[in-house]
Amino acid sequence: MAKQKLVSMVEIQKSFGKVEVLKGVNFDVNYNEIVGLVGDNGAGKSTLIKILTGVHSPDGGEIYFKGKRITIHSVDKSRELGIETVYQEQALSEQQTLWRNIFMGREITTNFGFLRIKDQRNETERILRDQMGFTSKAITTDSVVKNLSGGEKQGIAIGRALFFNADLIVLDEPTMGLSLAETKKALDFVRNIKQQGKSAIFISHNIYYVYPVADRFVILDRGHVAGKFLKKDISQDELVDKMVTLARTGKIS
Ligand SMILES: Nc1ncnc2c1ncn2[C@@H]1O[C@H](COP(=O)(O)OP(=O)(O)OP(=O)(O)O)[C@@H](O)[C@H]1O
Ligand SMILES: [Mg+2]
Repeated sequence: MAKQKLVSMVEIQKSFGKVEVLKGVNFDVNYNEIVGLVGDNGAGKSTLIKILTGVHSPDGGEIYFKGKRITIHSVDKSRELGIETVYQEQALSEQQTLWRNIFMGREITTNFGFLRIKDQRNETERILRDQMGFTSKAITTDSVVKNLSGGEKQGIAIGRALFFNADLIVLDEPTMGLSLAETKKALDFVRNIKQQGKSAIFISHNIYYVYPVADRFVILDRGHVAGKFLKKDISQDELVDKMVTLARTGKIS
């Protein structure tokens, strides 16, 4: 019997108006696996993960999570299942402190509904130092998010997802607009997901960022899966070559 997957998306179809954006896509994520989802602009990558995170509903196909068939009607539903999405900057509230950001919408309260501010601060401190490995003295639980670097913001968003026990973290272009040093930090946070035994889908145009952190690659091309490769079977240069060839000829060599 095939090993149970964390996620199986089977024959997923989606059109916007007359435009068929996903034409029967099969996409899996295993337990404790980082999948690099790559492909050209407009290939359908964001649409595919938006179906998984409850932003869009599919026109056809099936989704299985931990072996059970599910329908994801909303972002709240996908969170409840243990799927979190991290977009560049968008996920955090800029004017608020770190600890408020971590617990926003999911505050720790007493039985009477009062906020347990001290607990939230302590947990934030623990996430920063232990879980995310922040070493900078400049970052405290009371730091305001707008003063953090882009990479640090990504770290907070990933740390928050891990704290709430997400089994799957979806990263759509998490390094967009980041400096080299910040990108390095953000990639370390992705590695951290793997170390914590969880899974991630990592979407990026930059193979040089995806390649080192992913275990497997799925190339999407105009609404089809054009190729699937385990890292051990393909070098970084070969993967780049395949994508260049695909863009030029519409086929993978
Ligand atoms: N809400 C929408 N309404 C109409 N068309 C859409 C919508 N969202 C996406 N599309 C179209 O679907 C196609 C796939 O878009 P999608 O965002 O999934 O691509 P992508 O692979 O994420 O591309 P990129 O790498 O540029 O982010 C595009 O042609 C896009 O214009
Ligand atoms: Mg996209």
